[in-house]
Amino acid sequence: MQKTIFITGGAGFIGSHVIRLMANKYPDSRVVNLDALTYAGNLENLKDVESLPNYVFEKADILDTKRLSALFEQYQPDAVIHLAAESHVDRSILSPLDFVYTNIIGTVNLLHAAKDCWKENYEGKLFHHVSTDEVFGALGTTGFFTEETKYDPHSPYSASKASSDHFVRAYADTYGLPVIITNCSNNYGPNQFPEKLIPLFINNIIHKKPLPVYGDGLYTRDWLYVKDHAEAIDLVFHRGKLNETYAIGGFNEWKNIELVKLLCKLMDEKLNNKPGTSEALITFVKDRPGHDRRYAIDASKINEELGWKPSVTFEEGLSQTIDWYFDNKEWLQHVTSGAYQQYYEEQYKG
Ligand code: NAD
Ligand code: DAU
Repeated sequence: MQKTIFITGGAGFIGSHVIRLMANKYPDSRVVNLDALTYAGNLENLKDVESLPNYVFEKADILDTKRLSALFEQYQPDAVIHLAAESHVDRSILSPLDFVYTNIIGTVNLLHAAKDCWKENYEGKLFHHVSTDEVFGALGTTGFFTEETKYDPHSPYSASKASSDHFVRAYADTYGLPVIITNCSNNYGPNQFPEKLIPLFINNIIHKKPLPVYGDGLYTRDWLYVKDHAEAIDLVFHRGKLNETYAIGGFNEWKNIELVKLLCKLMDEKLNNKPGTSEALITFVKDRPGHDRRYAIDASKINEELGWKPSVTFEEGLSQTIDWYFDNKEWLQHVTSGAYQQYYEEQYKG
């Protein structure tokens, strides 16, 4: 093997798409998936990758420093792509400390393990930190986030991701660790856990349950198909400039209520429902505390430097996503049994 790449959080939503892309595209690279398999981690996401000779799974918690040292010692990785995190804003409001531990302390543990392993021999090494546009806070009706935007996080989730970004830069400035940070907008697509807006609403429509739209529904997000995010990570990882940041977005802003109406229309068509059937499930519920009004990314830098742009329109991506959930009802059933029900009742208890 020419290279060994640690990918953390590879059993999660975005991580599984990054693993699939990297393991198939670079057969000469060994791809090692480090994942603790929390409620969001699911090896079913990687069934088609498991048998590849250059793929290895290691169940590992990034809070376990001894285990991290042992894995770095054993594999001597050339690079890390770090996606492991607690990723859901609503859960961060219910239990902020989990986010402090995993997203901040876990990231520092990983940075430290890389630094100790690489022993200042940084030639050919890279720590690629996958972060979010939420670190930049909220936009008004105009303007975009860029790589230069000042940090202004509002939720425990975004504060923990902002802190992790700062630690990544601190390791670059203090110890010379070669790093890159990518800050991406909202992803959607196959394998997303049904706590996030799109898969939650697909699942609720399937089960004819209310669609809980927070507040006035006029919050805006910039949506990107997950496979396009994985492509962007691959490009930046291989061709991005060291110690730089790349903002990634879909050039695709939607107000929540408009997105939900489009989703309802597509679902009705695919389910042969009477038009308006799914829309009738829309229920406005109490707002998310600290809810950021609008996110939108100006992705010019990655577009101009690396030639990246999204490959599918939102309508195509959303249609493929719905089809995936229809074709994978068993997956949906597995992840929504047990603890999911408890979370759902706590989060949406009126
Ligand atoms: P996810 O919640 O689907 O997956 C997270 C993965 O991390 C899971 O497999 C989980 O088991 C693993 N994990 C959690 N705690 C761990 C620990 N202590 N040790 C090892 N593994 C652990 O998340 P996602 O939506 O795929 O997001 C992946 C990354 O991308 C996160 O860092 C997130 O902040 C970032 N991001 C997400 C989005 C989005 O829209 N989902 C957008 C931009 C950036
Ligand atoms: O912007 C990138 C971020 O996008 C990622 O860093 C996060 O990991 C990811 O979870 C996502 O955060 P959001 O909070 O924007 O995504 P979520 O799907 O939770 O919500 C999208 C919008 O829909 C938001 O305005 C809140 C609203 N919403 C969400 C849920 C779950 C509802 O109205 N009702 C809901 O039940």
